[in-house]
Amino acid sequence: MAEQGTEPAPAPAAGLPQHPGDGFTADPLGVLEEGHRRYGPVFRMPLDGVETVLVGTWAGLGELFAAERGRLEVLNTPLVHDLFGRALFNLTAEGHAEARRRLRPALSGRALSGYVPSLLGVIGPVTGRWAMAGTMDLHGQVRELTGAMSARVLLGIAPGEEDAPDFAAAFDRFVTATGAPPGPARFTDRRYWAGRSTRQDLHDLFARRAAQAAGDVTGGSALPGLVAAFADAPAAAGALADHLLALLIAARETTASLLTWCLVELAGNREHARLASAEARGVSADPSLLVARGALPVLRSVLAESLRLHSPNLLSMRETVCPVTLGGHRIEAGTRVAYSPSAGHFDPETFPRPRAFRPGRFLGGQASGSRLWAFGGGAHACLGRPLAELMALAVMARALQRGLPRLPGGPPARISFRPAKAPIDPLPFALDQEPVS
Ligand code: HEM
Repeated sequence: MAEQGTEPAPAPAAGLPQHPGDGFTADPLGVLEEGHRRYGPVFRMPLDGVETVLVGTWAGLGELFAAERGRLEVLNTPLVHDLFGRALFNLTAEGHAEARRRLRPALSGRALSGYVPSLLGVIGPVTGRWAMAGTMDLHGQVRELTGAMSARVLLGIAPGEEDAPDFAAAFDRFVTATGAPPGPARFTDRRYWAGRSTRQDLHDLFARRAAQAAGDVTGGSALPGLVAAFADAPAAAGALADHLLALLIAARETTASLLTWCLVELAGNREHARLASAEARGVSADPSLLVARGALPVLRSVLAESLRLHSPNLLSMRETVCPVTLGGHRIEAGTRVAYSPSAGHFDPETFPRPRAFRPGRFLGGQASGSRLWAFGGGAHACLGRPLAELMALAVMARALQRGLPRLPGGPPARISFRPAKAPIDPLPFALDQEPVS
């Protein structure tokens, strides 16, 4: 009860329908979908024990992103602030916008064609081993390959180099630190302190690689462009070392997840895999197809349908910094808000038979990739989308040149949704070589 003479604090989202959220851990997308079916684009639900406003559906996300600037900020824990410093997703307002302007050119557009040969140089030997190996664990292999591709493109580190194993080990140590408690208890956790000192080691490595790369625009890496872009950056735009670590972390589990599901679905849809394989053979003759607008429609349809059905990110978190109206409800400042990129991906009006993998829907014009939110939207929309798509297309193409994907034990039985959607258990995978017709 309020003390006499004081006003009761307003409820964070008075009047918003409340969803119980039971069973979220086992079937998070089912629970969100049910919530949106019952209450529309915006409702309340306890999430990891904290009352949260959930936003979803095509219309809901459009409204959220339009309202975002100046009203909602990315909600990152003190742990994430300590470990990532002034990285892009920890910045706000003009500093954030300035950092995005400086990062974007090296991660998109014409810069991408410069990364094709170096990416194929990383992927070729790995898919060659897959074809020879019999069976191996798909997600484990793809995670390692994603790490190697990111190191090559973002830092200029090729797999055979002396820096490659040191970087991979340091990065894994750093990732372990992200599992420390998010609040004050982090200071008593060994992983936190190991992460802080590894962060410094990684920054030293980045500085050394940046000095080597400066001016070398032919090296097949984004690093020279990034170094040039941050040479005269204002302090508010953050330091390149912080951004590099953010790019590496943002790229890793998400891209590995997307690739895993593309290959899982190709294994389950052999006819489509054969069509995609014909396109893949065209890529060996002309690798520039990987970045040509409108090229590789079949491989791109696999990408789009995998992003729809298996969006890597489950939720993105925000906090309101001033009152905001969403779905017709006033939401007070200081409220936790979460959006699910894929909560509109199962709408049967937009995607008939939404649970089925039907890449053909993106080929015949029945569905449009613009209805997908897998890369988020608004102020914090994914900056790595073009590079993620290039990596996924290049790996699919190289793998299909070697054989048709097969899962000897069938598709994954148990799935985890965080940090990104992935099989829980090892997933046996093979590339079957078929005679070329
Ligand atoms: C399939 C792969 C990927 C998916 C599905 C994905 C998805 C997303 C999503 C949903 C967001 C928005 C998060 C939010 O709203 O808070 C995001 C942000 C971001 N992504 Fe990605 N991402 C992928 C790959 C990458 C790659 C390869 C990079 C870097 C090379 C990258 C860099 C970033 C960065 C830096 C942000 C933060 C942007 C900001 O805060 O302004 N992502 N990503």
